[in-house]
Amino acid sequence: MQRAAAKLLLLITAAVVGSLSVFTHALQLQRPHETAAGNGTTSCRPHERDALLAFKHGITKDPYGLLTSWRSGKDCCQWSGITCSRHGHVVKLDLNRTLGDPPLVGQISLSLLSLEHLEYLDLSGNFLQGLPHLFGSLTKLEYLNLSNSSFFGSMPPQLGNLSNLRYLDLIRMQTLILTLKHIRLVGCSLPSANQSIPRMNLTALEDLDLSQNYFGHSVASCWFWNITSIKSLSLVSTYLGGRFPDALGEMVLLQHIEFGKNGNAATMAVDLKNLCELETLSIDGSLSSSNITELLEKLPRCSASNFFFLSSADNNMTGVLPNVIDQLTGLNVIYLPNNSISGVMPPEDTGVNLAVNGERIGHK
Ligand SMILES: *[C@@H]1O[C@H](CO)[C@@H](O)[C@H](O)[C@H]1NC(C)=O
Ligand SMILES: *[C@@H]1O[C@H](CO)[C@@H](O)[C@H](O)[C@H]1NC(C)=O
Ligand SMILES: *[C@@H]1O[C@H](CO)[C@@H](O)[C@H](O)[C@H]1NC(C)=O
Ligand SMILES: *[C@@H]1O[C@H](CO)[C@@H](O)[C@H](O)[C@H]1NC(C)=O
Ligand SMILES: *[C@@H]1O[C@H](CO)[C@@H](O)[C@H](O)[C@H]1NC(C)=O
Ligand SMILES: *[C@@H]1O[C@H](CO)[C@@H](O)[C@H](O)[C@H]1NC(C)=O
Ligand SMILES: *[C@@H]1O[C@H](CO)[C@@H](O)[C@H](O)[C@H]1NC(C)=O
Ligand SMILES: *[C@@H]1O[C@H](CO)[C@@H](O)[C@H](O)[C@H]1NC(C)=O
Ligand SMILES: *[C@@H]1O[C@H](CO)[C@@H](O)[C@H](O)[C@H]1NC(C)=O
Ligand SMILES: *[C@@H]1O[C@H](CO)[C@@H](O)[C@H](O)[C@H]1NC(C)=O
Ligand SMILES: *[C@@H]1O[C@H](CO)[C@@H](O)[C@H](O)[C@H]1NC(C)=O
Repeated sequence: MQRAAAKLLLLITAAVVGSLSVFTHALQLQRPHETAAGNGTTSCRPHERDALLAFKHGITKDPYGLLTSWRSGKDCCQWSGITCSRHGHVVKLDLNRTLGDPPLVGQISLSLLSLEHLEYLDLSGNFLQGLPHLFGSLTKLEYLNLSNSSFFGSMPPQLGNLSNLRYLDLIRMQTLILTLKHIRLVGCSLPSANQSIPRMNLTALEDLDLSQNYFGHSVASCWFWNITSIKSLSLVSTYLGGRFPDALGEMVLLQHIEFGKNGNAATMAVDLKNLCELETLSIDGSLSSSNITELLEKLPRCSASNFFFLSSADNNMTGVLPNVIDQLTGLNVIYLPNNSISGVMPPEDTGVNLAVNGERIGHK
């Protein structure tokens, strides 16, 4: 199996009102080993057969008799939709619905968790209720297809640690609660963040974390800059570079920006004055060069200032620490080690915790 061929994992930890349409890139799919079911070498494991029977038990409508062959006493490796490994473990469960057929309806049994060797799961086109959390526990999964299916329950963050997952298809999947709020795709080997994601309603997205994926392209070309609902944006160790787009200055609900460890290739020239909700900005080791005066002048200036934390270490910053600090009333942690900044420290009574050029000077 050529793992390198299929790298993308797009993981949406979400629940959505109405129609969630998630687009995943059409990558070439290499299916897991298709050991012929019932090769005669081994029959299925009893506890896995029982798990499948429990799954069948949860299905209330099977209009086309897809599960008719699922009967105790029979080798479950020979049931329709099932493929076993040489060792008799169920590795594939394919209950995709042929176009036009009515869906399977029912509850997804937690018994599926017993199928520890499952690599391929296709429930596309069906109408199943359940806690999608269980998918996050099927750690051997390489392929998960829930496209055009309907679900009760949200996609859990645990999908993020399905480290073998090569293919996730959630196109036209509908989940029946809440709105899409969180996308966390930390360390998922995403190849880029510059592809637009059509057909996906992200107007309620609050929390986006794409940290620890090597993108290496320009930060301005990322797809999320027009999503003004975002409150927390984490892009640590993504190696995004170039100028931040002006759109950042319009994301007025932002509370936290984490943009550390990005290889000193970005520049921050955006005016953040209107980001009145902003509390923290961490940009350590990410700017190619910068002037502390200019950076401080761009920080939020709102009557009720929430901004209290600035971390900009290892950024090759120059300039003189200016008096403008006095105007940033809420700011009480400024962390600037390993830069070339000079200037007068704020007096002790300002209550500012300041570290500059490696020295930490604590007040308060
Ligand atoms: C069936 O099993 C035999 C020996 O265990 C193996 O050589 C053969 O490739 C298998 N056939 C298929 C189609 O997997
Ligand atoms: C759907 O599942 C059947 C087996 O139940 C399989 O023969 C068919 O190839 C599958 N179709 C797709 C598109 O995966
Ligand atoms: C997922 O299933 C749908 C419907 O069976 C199919 O059209 C689609 O190609 C599948 N996606 C992948 C990635 O195989
Ligand atoms: C998706 O589901 C809808 C409604 O069940 C159906 O009309 C449509 O044909 C399905 N599309 C695919 C590609 O399976
Ligand atoms: C899986 O992900 C969850 C939530 O992101 C996390 O709490 C848990 O520790 C992870 N488990 C493993 C085995 O990595
Ligand atoms: C997106 O979802 C919101 C609710 O979160 C809804 O009001 C809006 O109409 C949806 N937009 C589209 C294009 O479906
Ligand atoms: C996205 O970035 C990759 C490099 O990571 C680049 O090869 C590709 O051309 C970019 N695509 C677009 C649409 O900008
Ligand atoms: C962001 O821009 C893209 C491409 O122009 C568009 O498809 C999408 O609907 C926009 N998203 C929001 C939340 O405005
Ligand atoms: C630091 O910034 C200067 C320009 O101000 C630039 O010439 C130099 O290459 C930068 N050094 C590093 C290590 O990025
Ligand atoms: C100091 O910052 C520069 C980038 O400006 C970085 O290359 C270097 O590794 C940093 N030094 C330390 C000790 O972290
Ligand atoms: C930093 O910016 C200020 C204000 O634009 C400017 O007066 C100063 O000369 C700059 N310092 C350096 C070292 O570029």
